[in-house]
Amino acid sequence: MVSTETASLFLHPDRNLGMELVRATEAAAIRAAPFIGRGDKNAADGAAVDAMRKFLGTVHFDGLVVIGEGEKDKAPMLFNGEHVGNGRGPACDIAVDPIDGTSLTAAGRPNALSVIAVSDRGSMYNPADVFYMDKIVTGPEGIGLVDLRRPIGDNLRALAAAKGKPVEDMLVAVLDRPRHAQLIEDIRAAGAGTRLLLDGDVAGGVNAARPGSRIDMCVGVGGTPEGVITACAVKALGGFIQGRLHPQSEAEHTAALAAGHDLDRVLEADDLVSGSNTYFVATGVTDGFLLDGVRRAGPVISTESIVLRSHSGTVRRVAADHLIEKWL
Ligand code: FBP
Repeated sequence: MVSTETASLFLHPDRNLGMELVRATEAAAIRAAPFIGRGDKNAADGAAVDAMRKFLGTVHFDGLVVIGEGEKDKAPMLFNGEHVGNGRGPACDIAVDPIDGTSLTAAGRPNALSVIAVSDRGSMYNPADVFYMDKIVTGPEGIGLVDLRRPIGDNLRALAAAKGKPVEDMLVAVLDRPRHAQLIEDIRAAGAGTRLLLDGDVAGGVNAARPGSRIDMCVGVGGTPEGVITACAVKALGGFIQGRLHPQSEAEHTAALAAGHDLDRVLEADDLVSGSNTYFVATGVTDGFLLDGVRRAGPVISTESIVLRSHSGTVRRVAADHLIEKWL
């Protein structure tokens, strides 16, 4: 039985902006690849930013960078407030993370991604004043069950029951940081296992929300920008996400209050990105548990990407071979 919504999408297929945006994450990953394991994260990031910007310029949309590489003066390109795209077509908000995992890339470690998230204009939460956010991400089973305000053990037991498996089979992704020592202890005390991330909680969050993934939950304090980007993916995957701003320093705390943020407020998926027209596009830079990284063999560079779109609920994996001579 085909639902009316599915049928109408079938009868009236429309453009998937994500299929064009993926060229920009591919380009960023390809340009960052020569810097993998070379110890220079700024050079890797610079190459990725440059390539992403160039390719975004070809896309038929009017993108406003809500989450970019920082303020105009500090970031020469892809700065917050910059317009990208050819300026025609749909007005959108865009979040870019040319490399989520710049240190991973510089060290030659797994799980670095190049990422773009897009939604309708005015729909993306602007995290300008507070860099850190406490987050929790799961698949659809967590909706209405899991809550950031509950102890982690309760959340794990509830989610395990909903998934019909013992807590001992649950795997939780957490950034490996001193600030998470108690959280990690509590996860293990509840009986679940941890997948400690050196960096890159976008990949961790997407994996927690993705059906069939070995990771059941991603929790802990990471970047607010990464939280908003993850929310765009979670919406397309039908998963669950909550976040709460979590200043790490006195200065950040004061700035957050001065900017009028309610630090007790739990932000739901719709607060992080409203509406149901989100795109999430990522290309692997280094090999990871979400995507393979950039490979070079003979005359070809290979990339693997994922393109998620909430309006249609499509999850595409895009494998591409690029002739090296075209990238010189
Ligand atoms: P960048 O590669 O963009 O620097 O981000 C890596 C990252 O691990 C994010 O995935 C995460 O949200 C954030 O940094 C965590 O911040 P910190 O390293 O300060 O704990």
